[in-house]
Amino acid sequence: MSEVENRDQFGSRIGFILASAGSAVGLGNIWRFPFVAGENGGAAFVLIYLLLVFCIGMPVMLAEFVVGRRGQGDPVGSLRRVAGKVFTPLGGMGIFAAIVILSFYGVVGGWTIKYTIDALMGALGTDVPSAGAVFGTFVKDPKAVIFYQALFMLGTYGVVARGIGNGIEKFCTVFMPVLFLLLIVLAVRSVTLPGAAEGLAFYLKPDFSKVNGATILAALGQAFFSLSIGIGVMLTYGSYLKKSEPIVSPAFQICFLDSFVALIAGLVIFPAVFAFGLEPGSGPGLTFVTLPAVFSKMPGGALFAVLFFFLLVIASLTSSMSQLEVICAYFVDDRKWSRGKATLTVTALTFCLGIPSAISLGGGLNIAGKSFLDAMDFMASNVIMPLGGMGFALLAGWVLHTMAKEEFSGSDGEPLAIYPAWRVICCVVAPAAIGWIFVTGLKW
Ligand code: PFF
Repeated sequence: MSEVENRDQFGSRIGFILASAGSAVGLGNIWRFPFVAGENGGAAFVLIYLLLVFCIGMPVMLAEFVVGRRGQGDPVGSLRRVAGKVFTPLGGMGIFAAIVILSFYGVVGGWTIKYTIDALMGALGTDVPSAGAVFGTFVKDPKAVIFYQALFMLGTYGVVARGIGNGIEKFCTVFMPVLFLLLIVLAVRSVTLPGAAEGLAFYLKPDFSKVNGATILAALGQAFFSLSIGIGVMLTYGSYLKKSEPIVSPAFQICFLDSFVALIAGLVIFPAVFAFGLEPGSGPGLTFVTLPAVFSKMPGGALFAVLFFFLLVIASLTSSMSQLEVICAYFVDDRKWSRGKATLTVTALTFCLGIPSAISLGGGLNIAGKSFLDAMDFMASNVIMPLGGMGFALLAGWVLHTMAKEEFSGSDGEPLAIYPAWRVICCVVAPAAIGWIFVTGLKW
């Protein structure tokens, strides 16, 4: 019991919310959401996405908070304590997914550092062909990509090694507000450009003809990836939250902040791209090729480029630290390693596992037609995260519901009104929706 009492904790509710929102807000919001939305029917996709975030994502997040706070440990240990040994594979699967995600996330995180430095030096290219050449040369240079990946992983390590209160919470409390501010400055710049309206229309005009099973799976995968749920990250953060704190209102606030950033990121990107008559390319090209070309044409663009890529660095660091934390928590809580040993070993391990992703875009390392990096992303976000989410929902709704009811009523008398709806969602709606979307929409 004394070990549990000595566990590190978030010092304040706002620190917990900002750290969890920091985990949720990441490359997924700023880099992935806008182009997935643009390609999948604009506002039609956004609506489905928001529905999935609040009706399925938030209940699953709450399920994770319940297990973590009751279990007071990493996903494996918490599940063993609150539900029994048979449920520990769900935690193990989450830790495995976190290893996979961190391995490629570190690579793209490294790109953001490289681009911030290049933006400072005005070396991003002046139009799409030259920006494309800068990007192509960079990703085909394994030494450079691995160097920046290492730098990014070191930054992640530096924060997580300091623990929860002094490391993750402090970092997120300072930098998440900076991120929100930068994002708003950039959105105002973008939507006030002459010709921005066309981009707004592309992003937000609903096109329901594009909505099918694959679109809905894309929205679900995006929601799970963006909220960092289904793999025990929120479980682990929840385990560091004081018993006296409520969990329902923070879960709502985290989902709100995450969706807000994703929506605003689209407002930063599309109006600017269309204002300068460029094609909204998809994937990494949009962020790392099209946007540099946009910035080079925009009044004050040099400064906005630095701000944008710095924002991406913050967003990705606060997410990667949560991925590292969930893996380390397992070694610290369950295997009794020291935090120092766990963070160093796991950082080194995930860095090495990321090398195939690092070289995959330049060297043609493919798995069945997808780059190694994309294949890892697909497996983690479209397969493991929804399945893990289904597991947490079923477990919490059917097995741990009494515990959940107690956890929902925090000491400050939080309303229990959502409990019955939460339970129905966890027992039936979320598993059925995830299962259906999975069967009809899963496509490599
Ligand atoms: N939610 C992060 C993003 O949107 O970029 C990514 C992420 C963080 C996924 C933490 C998974 C995770 F455990």
